[in-house]
Amino acid sequence: MKRIFRHTTLSATFLLLCLGLLACAAPPPALDATGGAVASAAPRATAAGIKVLEEGGNAVDAAVATALVLSVVHPNAGNLGGGGFAVIRMGDQVEALDFRETAPAAARADMYLDEHGEAISDRSLIGPLAAGVPGSPHGYFELHQRYGTLPWKRVVDPAVRAARDGFVVTKRLAGALEGSSKLLGRFEATAEVWLPGGRPHDAGSTVRIPALADSLQAYADRGPVALMEGPIAAAVVAASERHGGILSMEDLAGYRSVWRPPIRFQAFGWDIASMPLPSSGGIILGQTCAMLERLDWVSKPRFGADRTHLLAEVWRRAYADRFLLGDPSTSQATAEELMSPVWLDRRAMTIDVGRATPSDEILPWPGAPDESDQTTHLSVVDAEGNAVALTTTLNGRFGCGLLVPEAGFLLNNEMDDFAAQPGKPNQFALVQGEANAVGPGKRMLSSMTPTVAWRDGESMAFGAPGGSRIPTGTAQVFLNVVVDGDGLQAAVDRPRVHHQWRPDSIRAEDGALSPEIRQELIRRGHEIEDCGAVGLVQIVRWMADGPCQAAADPRGPGSAGVVGTKGR
Ligand code: DON
Repeated sequence: MKRIFRHTTLSATFLLLCLGLLACAAPPPALDATGGAVASAAPRATAAGIKVLEEGGNAVDAAVATALVLSVVHPNAGNLGGGGFAVIRMGDQVEALDFRETAPAAARADMYLDEHGEAISDRSLIGPLAAGVPGSPHGYFELHQRYGTLPWKRVVDPAVRAARDGFVVTKRLAGALEGSSKLLGRFEATAEVWLPGGRPHDAGSTVRIPALADSLQAYADRGPVALMEGPIAAAVVAASERHGGILSMEDLAGYRSVWRPPIRFQAFGWDIASMPLPSSGGIILGQTCAMLERLDWVSKPRFGADRTHLLAEVWRRAYADRFLLGDPSTSQATAEELMSPVWLDRRAMTIDVGRATPSDEILPWPGAPDESDQTTHLSVVDAEGNAVALTTTLNGRFGCGLLVPEAGFLLNNEMDDFAAQPGKPNQFALVQGEANAVGPGKRMLSSMTPTVAWRDGESMAFGAPGGSRIPTGTAQVFLNVVVDGDGLQAAVDRPRVHHQWRPDSIRAEDGALSPEIRQELIRRGHEIEDCGAVGLVQIVRWMADGPCQAAADPRGPGSAGVVGTKGR
């Protein structure tokens, strides 16, 4: 037995209206049962994950099946031509898989700059020069090889069927296609699939993508070599070259995902594991929790100015340190350094409860040498409490816009996550340093924060898309659950805030700050700007003595489901 909850379609533009409605109507209850749970960005993908759990697959089987269906039905972010991260807890094993894209071997630090050293607008965003070497084909297979239990073909099959037999376009996908029609229309092959006759697909219409079905079938039959070598890889390289890209056959064949020890820490009575470099997400989440504990954040009134003030102060400092981060080979600071008790004590001590510290007064970690809007997240727990948090992305919505005609999938524009021009803001207004400069084979710094957390008899998986707002959105939902005891849906629904050092202002979703709190924060020296969604968080929870729960974020396309029987 299964139940799928499907959120009504909402666009970012309607966030205000949506939050208003949420305030009037009781939020939908998080679903619960005992055999496992899945939360993802699309009902068909969630249903595929649930079915896998019902057939006895574990959390990894379900996560991979869900991710692959997203690569068909959620083309803005789900992908075979992008990359991502997964943090998992399978029995006693706690691990992180890095399947982040890498810069092609021909990439150079100045490849996005003009002769005056200025960034050329859009060059790191549109077309295949913006594409990193895809990591998803190797990553999903690797995840399944190490931990999956069902046959590989069974796990890939729902995605093959979605692409071959067709899937129904949701209102939200129709809206995304409409919103990105200029990008999608730039490349003929992309337009043929996603803008037939020059028009985005209508909501309710059925889309079939035979070339993608063939790619997925080859992947099911032969594993990642089917996509990383041979005719499909040659088609990727040819499409890239046709439009000025630099991807090579060697780049594709040489890609490897990497198992890394996750960032591990304890906070608020929970054990937590999150993503290490090349993502900054786990470090930011770890620094956030550690500083909040030092500042006794828990004891501050839930709906008072102190809590928001302290969050903003903590994030200013964490994002200042982010300036030093990059691919592990060039990062100017390590997680051990940035999460050392001595450094966290020093950082927390500089926080004044009554006054905002201007971001210009906050320098990154002093041990460093230079002292002087698309992603998707899915969360799965199974009947045994194993947990998978997986975030995957093309970076911008529909990536670089180029679809490889023979392969049916879009290429990412992850190269923009490098500091194309160190010290200058990127599309997420993130100011990043030399540590994250473009370099051949390097992985670009990320903010993705797939996270698992557990304590006796309980485990959770969560994370979000949202660019630079991923760690802060993820942290707030976690805090709502573990500090304030919110149910999952309430924790996700509650309006959120964000700060990222630069620009020096608190960003607030509609309804996040009452007029009184807003006034008090301004009095303490903060600037406040309104913003859209601070991440789209998908979260699931398993309890030894109770039902599993799942909640999807109403700010975006969201679908949460549970298995109705525990089987033990
Ligand atoms: O890795 C990162 O941090 C970005 N590429 C994530 C992009 C993203 O979340 C966009 N979607 N909302």
